[in-house]
Amino acid sequence: MPGSKFKNVLVIGGAGYVGSALVPSLLKKDYNVTVYDLYLYGDVFSNLKNKKNLTEIKADIRDKKKLFEASKNVDAIIHLACISNDPSYELNPALSKSINYDAFFNILEAAEKNDVKRFIYASTSSVYGVKKEKDITEKTVPEPLTDYSKYKLECEKVLLGREINGMERTILRSATVCGYAPRMRFDLTVNILTINALINKVIKIFGGKQLRPNINIQDVVRAYEIFLSAPRNKINREIFNVGYQNKTVEEIAYIVKNVIGGESITFEYVPTEDTRSYHINSDKIKKVLEFTPKYTIEGAIQSIVNAYNEGHINDGLNNPIYHNIKLMQKINLK
Ligand SMILES: NC(=O)c1ccc[n+]([C@@H]2O[C@H](COP(=O)([O-])OP(=O)(O)OC[C@H]3O[C@@H](n4cnc5c(N)ncnc54)[C@H](O)[C@@H]3O)[C@@H](O)[C@H]2O)c1
Repeated sequence: MPGSKFKNVLVIGGAGYVGSALVPSLLKKDYNVTVYDLYLYGDVFSNLKNKKNLTEIKADIRDKKKLFEASKNVDAIIHLACISNDPSYELNPALSKSINYDAFFNILEAAEKNDVKRFIYASTSSVYGVKKEKDITEKTVPEPLTDYSKYKLECEKVLLGREINGMERTILRSATVCGYAPRMRFDLTVNILTINALINKVIKIFGGKQLRPNINIQDVVRAYEIFLSAPRNKINREIFNVGYQNKTVEEIAYIVKNVIGGESITFEYVPTEDTRSYHINSDKIKKVLEFTPKYTIEGAIQSIVNAYNEGHINDGLNNPIYHNIKLMQKINLK
């Protein structure tokens, strides 16, 4: 039995990095999972084709009709689909807005008309922008600096701002995710430092003193599962920061070096204009949902090292499949 009364779950954008770890975990817990995704990064569930409780729909969230069909008999939606990072967003701002913001209304309409009971939205801790405060809580006023973050915040407002048939809604503002997953991303801080150290033996540190909040992908999976099973009064219309270790980029580089254990790994300091530095506080999720992270940055790095040694990573530095911006440049999505 799934750990929740919401047995039928639609994971929109479920074939991405986070989804590729979340979906197998939900299947193991006996949820009936439908993945709705364009599969921009390939067929990540090829080894799960025999699972009776997995349905895959290759479609676009801008396609209202298909989205409506996919939302029938669904208890809960987890919405992860996105042009997900600043450079990819900026490659084609009009396209990105159509996916990250305009299509959000299609999803809500499909959810509303099909009487979906719970809606969980993947937002980001980058909605806060750069803050002087040391501890950024959910009460800190967000000041997003980029359109990617701005439209995340706009979707949050839309989601919380209207009454939708009593649908329960919750928002997860995730720190930067790290660790190995079947759809791997090497454009995220810990992951990129690790693959650089493995392949080049040099870790390029852009700046170094900026604080970056991180969370192991296994803990992100746990957080989504808790959001599925938590009682209404604890999560409805609530926003939760989900982060764990707030480390500087330089500290992360040292952790990578220590985990890999390479005496030969050197650091190269590169000046950067990206001085975004922030520190998120995740006490609310601990207090309200008793969620504390179980996995570490060290564990995330080790999972990448293991995958690399076992041959699961094919040209991690250049292969567009691992780098959202490179892939978006290559496919020229319309
Ligand atoms: N990974 C992180 O560090 C992180 C941090 C904070 C927030 N988030 C948020 O979590 C969510 C998942 O992140 P991720 O790292 O898995 O991203 P990802 O880019 O790996 O996955 C996004 C998925 O959305 C799909 N998609 C894109 N456009 C689509 C469309 N028009 N129709 C259908 N599917 C479409 C892609 O094919 C992909 O599988 C995103 O919303 C992201 O903004 C991620």
